[in-house]
Amino acid sequence: MCNLIQKYNIPGPRYTSYPTVPFWDIHSFSGKKWEATVKQSFSESNSKEGISLYIHLPFCESMCTFCGCHKRITKRHDVEVPYIRTLLKEWSLYLELFDERPIIKELHLGGGTPTFFSPENLQMLINGLFKRADRAKDYEFSFEGHPNNTTKEHLKALYDVGFRRVSYGVQDYNETVQKAIHRVQSFENVKNVTDWAREIGYTSIGHDIIFGLPHQTLEHVLETIEKTKTLKPDRLAFYSYAHVPWLKGNGQRGYKDTDLPSAEEKRTQYEAGKLELAKAGYTEIGMDHFALDTDSLYRSMQNGKLHRNFMGYTASKTQLMVGLGASSISDSWYGFAQNVKSLEEYQHLVENNIIPIFRGHILTDEDRIIRKHILNLMCQLETIWFQESMQFKELPVVMDRLKEMQDDGLLEMTQYQLRVTEKGRPFVRNICMAFDLKLHEKTPETRLFSMTI
Ligand SMILES: C[S@@+](CC[C@H](N)C(=O)[O-])C[C@H]1O[C@@H](n2cnc3c(N)ncnc32)[C@H](O)[C@@H]1O
Ligand code: SF4
Repeated sequence: MCNLIQKYNIPGPRYTSYPTVPFWDIHSFSGKKWEATVKQSFSESNSKEGISLYIHLPFCESMCTFCGCHKRITKRHDVEVPYIRTLLKEWSLYLELFDERPIIKELHLGGGTPTFFSPENLQMLINGLFKRADRAKDYEFSFEGHPNNTTKEHLKALYDVGFRRVSYGVQDYNETVQKAIHRVQSFENVKNVTDWAREIGYTSIGHDIIFGLPHQTLEHVLETIEKTKTLKPDRLAFYSYAHVPWLKGNGQRGYKDTDLPSAEEKRTQYEAGKLELAKAGYTEIGMDHFALDTDSLYRSMQNGKLHRNFMGYTASKTQLMVGLGASSISDSWYGFAQNVKSLEEYQHLVENNIIPIFRGHILTDEDRIIRKHILNLMCQLETIWFQESMQFKELPVVMDRLKEMQDDGLLEMTQYQLRVTEKGRPFVRNICMAFDLKLHEKTPETRLFSMTI
């Protein structure tokens, strides 16, 4: 395994989209084209499956130095109401594109820290969204909570407006690691928020833990998992720390590269963690995720319904996902668009009745075929190109690229299909990279992606 890690540990995308953001064709993209794809997607899919909403709530009171998310650090809570007003106005700009009331299937509040907002303000946001929208019968609403500031009132208020799933950022319980990442948070806090959510009636509670953090050892990871097991979250994200300090303004500078575990150490942390999780009844879902067999993520994997988008893995797929808020990305299946990142610019554009996107990509037919293969690989660990609709001109070249990984035992391939082996699981990002025509057409001049392992 060691040699394979050395061979395949290269910078690579996490494939929350295809094409990945750095390869979007921003020159042929326009706001008009984006709106046309939203209209088309909405009219094709709203009455059949509903749409998804992702809402980015970017504020955090304190900066965790490992964090790669888009956030604004502030202790001033007077930012809440103006931000919510802008979100609701942005929503009204999308409503103008729709020819009927939208049916919301999935709604996710991400961040930043959604629980930075008061429970009343979060309810005001949700009630505002549903003034001109309906819920799907089997809707799934979820949010990200910070264990240090999620209160019983937050959990109750969101439960009352339909939320049944919450995920908490845990990362690691060790004090040295917590200090290095500037995120000191006790087990007791995590236990409290987990217990409260259960008492109130949440049916899926998730914890995010990370391996590969500065000063983190195998023992720290195993101890974190031991503690996690006592709380039995329904799902777990077990992320590899993405070290991307060259991305401006994300603050990953409180420690040196030499404080980070090596690629081999990271892999050992992951493999050992995975073993412990399996013993505790968790099944690995796609990449980085684990779930108990009672959780909807597990069931959706079993039914072949698992989907991956900018939020990571989701239990169901809608053709249209509208992202509201600074930096959010929307996906109409025919195109992607990202909102401006600066809060001031975001507010300014929305106030002037402009959908606040600054870049995007309209997918070609070929992009959509490759996207399906990458989704299949990331979600089901296999893909098939037996039908003509799954074939594309460069397929023989892709198959050639895959031969070496086949020889290394990472995948099994026939003329019409490919399956990732258990040995190949850690390398699924590398396997997807073989399909990534854009990546092979043009190697980026600057470093863009974290390492694959
Ligand atoms: C928006 S935060 C979760 C909510 C809340 N802000 C908190 O920290 O508890 C999203 C999650 O992304 C993960 N994350 C952030 N930066 C990461 C990085 N550089 N590498 C891997 N995972 C990261 C963390 O596990 C974090 O809990
Ligand atoms: S990990 Fe969460 S709380 Fe910490 S900076 Fe990132 S988004 Fe904010």
